[in-house]
Amino acid sequence: MWIEIADKSGFCFGVERAIRLTEEAAERFGEVWTSGPLIHNPIVTKSLEKKGVHIADNVESAAGKPLVIRSHGVSAQTGIKAAELCAEVIDATCPFVAKIHKIVSETSAEAVVVLGDRTHPEVIGIMGHAVGRVYACAGADDIEGLFTRGELSDNEDVALVVQTTFDRGRFEEYSERIARNHSRVKIYDTICHATSERQRNAEELAKRAALMIVVGGRSSSNTGALAAICARHCRTVFAESAADIPRQILSGLRSDSLIGITAGASTPVYTIKEVHERMNEEIRSVNENEEDFAALLEADQSFIKLRNGMRVKATVVSVSDREVCVEVGAKQTGYIACEELTNNPEAVAAVVKVGDVIDAIVIKVDDSTGTAALSKKRVDTALSLEKMMAVKDANETIEGVVSNVVKGGVIVFSDNTRIFIPASQTGIPRNGSLDVLLKQTVKLKIIEVNDQRGGRVVGSIKLANKEVRDAERAKFWENIEVGQKFVGEVRSIEDYGVFVDIGAVDGLVRTSELTWNRVGHPKDIVKIGDKINVIVKSYDPEKKRVSLSAKDPDDNPWTKFIDEYSKGDVIKATIVSITEFGAFAQIIPGVDGLIHISQISTERVNNIASVLSVGQEVEVKIIEIDTEKNRVSLSIKALMEETASDDSDDEE
Ligand code: F3S
Repeated sequence: MWIEIADKSGFCFGVERAIRLTEEAAERFGEVWTSGPLIHNPIVTKSLEKKGVHIADNVESAAGKPLVIRSHGVSAQTGIKAAELCAEVIDATCPFVAKIHKIVSETSAEAVVVLGDRTHPEVIGIMGHAVGRVYACAGADDIEGLFTRGELSDNEDVALVVQTTFDRGRFEEYSERIARNHSRVKIYDTICHATSERQRNAEELAKRAALMIVVGGRSSSNTGALAAICARHCRTVFAESAADIPRQILSGLRSDSLIGITAGASTPVYTIKEVHERMNEEIRSVNENEEDFAALLEADQSFIKLRNGMRVKATVVSVSDREVCVEVGAKQTGYIACEELTNNPEAVAAVVKVGDVIDAIVIKVDDSTGTAALSKKRVDTALSLEKMMAVKDANETIEGVVSNVVKGGVIVFSDNTRIFIPASQTGIPRNGSLDVLLKQTVKLKIIEVNDQRGGRVVGSIKLANKEVRDAERAKFWENIEVGQKFVGEVRSIEDYGVFVDIGAVDGLVRTSELTWNRVGHPKDIVKIGDKINVIVKSYDPEKKRVSLSAKDPDDNPWTKFIDEYSKGDVIKATIVSITEFGAFAQIIPGVDGLIHISQISTERVNNIASVLSVGQEVEVKIIEIDTEKNRVSLSIKALMEETASDDSDDEE
């Protein structure tokens, strides 16, 4: 004979969670009260009592005290009353049950039917969330009876939900019948995942076994459902503990019989072990077999033995806003608290979904509660440290989002890895505000990875920016050409010109290149921050210098001058400056001509300023145009001579 324990025996996610929340509350408050027995298992209830967990018969009796709402949940009204009367309410309603509350409270159907045990607290709680007519039914006959009596009508919408621990086989049979007869009944399959799995495993084992032992509290509905399923296939014994196993239970069985053990969702693993040990004794007494079945349990191929620090593959069974329940192929129920899920508090919801297989590390195995606390974050941290080390070694640039500003810098998350950027490495000037980086996607380099300091990773935005700028500069010098056009920003203004940022470098626009017109000081034309169009005049890659011009060739006044004026023309011009060798006169804006000192008068001129003054308009003759050097020579003397010649002709 041999023994096999069904997969998924013992505490389910919801029970484990309720016990954990209750124990935490008892530790916090010293004592805590639960809305009825926390779970339907007297052994667990007794052990909780020793930890300061008391049972409140109703909400009123817990007035002024901390109250835990057990995994079965309560009606909406009881929940409101608890919030009003109790010092604190800890809601341990199983998320699978809470989902049913939501369905029945939000349905637009005229009536709700709850398939389950009408005396069970879960069913009572569900009914207390319905807003319209609500009925509890044990089976399809009950539901049909509602239609026959006219309490339900085929002319109205009906929502049908099912108790989380209902026998799946019966539910499928009933729902098929109801769906066939009543088209306006909308059926919600609300049997919880843990129950379905447990029932499937128990049934599969019961089909092969000669005897099934179902372990759990007598008032536990899910344990009762397991016993009913097993009893369809083989002899089944219901045991609350090892003490319930009768002597000579194996008499009459063949020597090669398989004995199966399964347990309800509220059965702790130690009770399963005790029952297993008890069956072990029975087999020994029958077969005088000395095999150590306790060791067999430990070595059972169907379970892995968890130990702290072990890395396991975990399948996500459920996700709530507090924790994720996982299946790791061990006797224990695995869970990952939110804070152990990811480093990035903003990414919790996006980290996992039901059905995902993830790597996790065991951080605490608790055989007294049959649970194992795991951490995904610690595996991720180890992996991300390896990855960050590789990024650092390869001097790669990565991207991340700035999540918050902390003392001395900012925190960036890249692929859920937390990276600290010291203020000096952010690229923000010393007195600037780091807040401008918040929520920004930034490029960064990894400059330190320290697994000795809790996996500290330090990055630099500044280095990544510098690399980008260096690359842009190299590209700029590779591609620069005379005549290339840019739109640049004025960075600084000097007496001799302005420096303009043209992307990778700052180029110089000399004052004379700012405009075609005469300029006193560059600040008369531009101010810092102005955007101006510039053209590359020359460049020196060695000295990293670029000379620019802001003069637009299309506005070149010389072109206009050449089009409109010719040598010999007599024109009006305005004196704009006086030098030792002559006076400059503006012909059109941007084109000045020189009246050489020898061309000012027919008489000898020693002091130009005694003859001409700045601003004076004079009549001149164009005597020379040098298109190579863009120079114009003007003469007043030539006109004077012509006038004198005309006068003498007249006299003759
Ligand atoms: Fe919840 Fe299902 Fe357990 S409803 S309490 S996970 S049996």
